[in-house]
Parts: sequence; structure tokens; C-alpha cells
Amino acid sequence: MIDFKVIGTPILLRNIKKIDPESIEAYIETGGYEALKKALKKSPDELLEEVKKSELRGRGGAGFPTGIKFEIAKNQKETPKFVVVNAEEGEPGTFKDRIILENDPHLVIEGAILAAYIIGANYGYIAIRPDYTLAIKRLEKAIQDAYKYGFLGDNILGSNFSFHLKIKRGAGAYICGEETALLEMIEGKRGEPRKKPPFPPQKGLYGKPTVVNNVETLANLPFIIYYGSEEFKKYGVEGSYGTKLFCMSGDVSWKGIIEIPFGVKLSEIISLAGGVKGGKLKAVILGGVSGSLVKYDEVDIEVDYHSLGRIQAGPGCGTIIVLNDKRDIVDVCENIMRFFKDESCGKCFPCRLGTEASYRIIKKIKEKKANLHDLFNLERICKTMKNASFCGLGQTAPNIILQSLQKFKDEWLSHIS
Ligand SMILES: Cc1cc2nc3c(=O)[nH]c(=O)nc-3n(C[C@H](O)[C@H](O)[C@H](O)COP(=O)(O)O)c2cc1C
Ligand code: SF4
Repeated sequence: MIDFKVIGTPILLRNIKKIDPESIEAYIETGGYEALKKALKKSPDELLEEVKKSELRGRGGAGFPTGIKFEIAKNQKETPKFVVVNAEEGEPGTFKDRIILENDPHLVIEGAILAAYIIGANYGYIAIRPDYTLAIKRLEKAIQDAYKYGFLGDNILGSNFSFHLKIKRGAGAYICGEETALLEMIEGKRGEPRKKPPFPPQKGLYGKPTVVNNVETLANLPFIIYYGSEEFKKYGVEGSYGTKLFCMSGDVSWKGIIEIPFGVKLSEIISLAGGVKGGKLKAVILGGVSGSLVKYDEVDIEVDYHSLGRIQAGPGCGTIIVLNDKRDIVDVCENIMRFFKDESCGKCFPCRLGTEASYRIIKKIKEKKANLHDLFNLERICKTMKNASFCGLGQTAPNIILQSLQKFKDEWLSHIS
């Protein structure tokens, strides 16, 4: 099992390794489904206010305010409405959703039911990557048990609220984590992104209002609804409330998941993971390979949206890939662009051609066969991809390359013949 650590008091990992993940009774004994019982005594409007006041932001990468998303979906007249749990988790180095789903599946199910009650959805899907077999097995059992206990189905716990939840095995492609491609995939079509707007809360699954939320985002809802937004905001710092899961990998002594309240320093998180392995710290890939590159002299920074924004970084989906000083930055970038070229869905040409062309140039640079003109072209292609691509994949694929060209310019130049 993937190991985990916590700074402070956990919200999301509170049940991990403490309860039997296959037992709904064990979840109930720890206060599970109490938030749902409490919620059903209140109006969806009251609960929406609570989520908005909590200032919870999406944990899938973009950090969009969850309450606002719910409000948009709730205000739509069209029915039926849907809740989609995004459990695709395709970002390299990310495995936090897996940990929650395998070890505390009811936490996510309860979160999805709460979201559905707030927006008025009667149907939901957990869209999960197909290789998360243990998580799928445990979710299947957990959903069955939740139906048996009357937490799912018609007239939940005697109320007039009904919600049905199903598992949808994903296609295993990175692009299927993008919310509109995910909806296409659930509808049985090829997983390609849709044009936005309209956004899913306006026009989502089968053209109906839909909230798509990350597993970790929804796992916060039982706490917020049961204890209230005030309690939630005791964790974290202004503008970044609650806790966040980070997946530690790369050149670090300990690999696993760390739950921290927002505001803890990046350097502290790396120390908790036993520090850098095999050399000195060179950089951190933060928030996924579509995220940002934090240089060794920048890691003494608080991990929250505002502080990280000052160095053009962000927590993203919660990935910390540590690079030691033996790593060649060009080699790292080649790996990253190889991933994006393979995962580009091909729908738009800035990304389809841009990922391929930039990969070829990086490879040439790595082999020391490139000149300054190639380096200039790489930067130009990356900027075009960022500005002109149709969806988030192409818009973020060049992030690390562009940041490394600034932060490790000399290293790139040392490869030029
Ligand atoms: C290429 C791409 C892949 C994505 N993959 C995921 C993913 O695996 N899981 C996820 O929750 N969000 C992923 N996202 C973000 C989703 O589009 C969406 O913003 C998120 O599910 C919204 O949930 P949140 O508001 O709870 O963060 C991806 C985005 C892009 C552009
Ligand atoms: S940016 Fe890439 S992944 Fe997104 S639509 Fe264009 S080709 Fe497909």
C-alpha cells in the first residue's frame, strides 16, 4: 500500500488505515453519513451558502471555486442534472485520488450525494481509470452497501431526494480527465474535449447541467457540511482553505502521500519526505508535468494559491516530483514532451503538431545536434501551443519547458553546438 504522512490534523486521510474500507458499518461508526443526515434536514440553498463560505477550491488542478460551480448548476432550469466524480487521475506522479478511493470509498460517495442534493441532481457517475482495479472493486461494494442502507436510491433516508450513482470505467487516456472529454467518454463517444462555453454546469452530460468534480474536492464536503465552513477555514490560509494532498515522488527519500494544511512551506514538505535523495535539490515539478517548475532557491515558499502565484506556480493537482542536481533538465523536458505528444488527442493542430515538433527539437538538443535557431524555434512553438491550443492539455503541455528555458537557460545553452 502507498504510505502516507500528515502535517497537523487530517481531514481527508482521517480514516485511512484506521477503518476497513470494505465495511460501510466501519465508516458509519466513525461518523460517516452523518453529514448527509444533517444535510437532508436543511435546504439545498443553505448548504450551497455553506460550501460558498468555505471557499473550497477544486483539487483537480484548476482550483475553481466549488461553491460557484454548484451555484451555476443549481440555477439551471433544465433537468435531469448530473454529478460526475472525476477519478481519471492521469497526471504523471499523481496517486492521491487512488488512495482515497481504495481506502475510504464512502467518503467520496457521501461527497457526491451531498453535491447532488445541493444542485438537484438525481444521477451521478464515478468516472474512473480502468487500471484502478482495487478502487473499482471497493467502490462497487461501497455503492451496493450505500443502496442497502438507503443512502443511495429513491427517497434517500425517507426524504423526497433521490440519487443514483454508477461507476463508469474510463478509457485510460490522459485527455479523458479533461472534464468535457470525460463527458464525451461517458456518453460512449471518443474522448475529445468540447468547446467551452457552454461549461458543464450549464450544458454537460447529454447536454444537461452537470458538475464535474475531482475525487479530493468531493471528499471535503462531508467535513464542511457536518462541521461547517468556519471549522473548515481553521485549516489553511486566506484564499487557500482546508488541507491538500500531495504525492511525493522522484528523487526523494520517502514516496507517498502527505496531507498538509495550505500554507506549509514546500521545503518543509520535502523535509518531511526525508529530503532529497542522490544529490542536492535542483528543482521541483509542482502540480504535475502540466504544472510548474520550482527552482532550488525558490522552495522556501508557502504552498498556497497566492504565495505560489508570485513565482508563476500553483499546487495544481498535488504532485511533487523532486529532481536532484544529477538530473539533466533537457532530459526531463524530453520525457515530459514525449508524454504530451503521445497523449495529445489530435483534435487541434497547435497541440497535435506542436507537441511532436517540440519533442523532436528537445531530442535534437539532448543529442547535442541542435543550434541556437532550434532553441529559438522551441520557445516559439511552445508559446504558440500555450496560446492557441483548443484545450488545457495543449495549453499547459509547454509549461515546464518554458519555465526551464528561463530558470535553467545556461543548462539548455550548454547542449547547443
Ligand atoms: C488534459 C487534462 C487532464 C485532466 N485530468 C484530470 C484528472 O485526471 N482528474 C481531475 O480531477 N481533473 C482533471 N482535469 C481537470 C478537469 O478538467 C476539471 O477541471 C476538474 O475535474 C474539475 O474538478 P474540480 O473543480 O473539483 O477540480 C484535467 C484537465 C485537463 C486539461
Ligand atoms: S489541445 Fe491537444 S488534447 Fe486538447 S483538443 Fe487540441 S489536440 Fe486535443
